[in-house]
Amino acid sequence: MAASVLFVCLGNICRSPLAEAAFRREAERLGLEAHVDSAGTGDWHVGRPPDPRACAAARRNGADISDYEARMVSPADFHRFDHIVALDPQNLRDLERIRPAGARAELSLLLDHVEGREGQGVADPYYGGDADFDTAWADVSAGAGGLARRMAKER
Ligand code: 4NP
Repeated sequence: MAASVLFVCLGNICRSPLAEAAFRREAERLGLEAHVDSAGTGDWHVGRPPDPRACAAARRNGADISDYEARMVSPADFHRFDHIVALDPQNLRDLERIRPAGARAELSLLLDHVEGREGQGVADPYYGGDADFDTAWADVSAGAGGLARRMAKER
């Protein structure tokens, strides 16, 4: 059975769509079959495409996220996914609060999958500029790479 991963940030329009795209690419490279999605802890942007600046950063790195659609994370996701991966420590705390008893998903922080960056968050580029979106892409790529390699070993 394919492994499943859900990436979660605050708005689901900047960091987690980038993480989803980076993970899809890494999984393909490793031949890892995976069901991949992203969501937000907030509901402000539900139904909307990613931030244009996130789309542009993805495009600069050869990925197209323009057809992604924001949604909010729900307790049911803990029964649907093997891994739920928070983009920053606040997202992780919010997820711990809604985690149902007997949840199947393993909860982690994305940068926990990068040696030397355990416990760190991917900085929110929402109030920043293009350079901040490029930094976010670099961070999510590192995290997605680490997680995908671990999942490929465990399959
Ligand atoms: P994200 O960025 O959590 O990486 O999608 C944000 C998007 C929207 C808002 C905050 C962060 N907002 O306040 O609307």
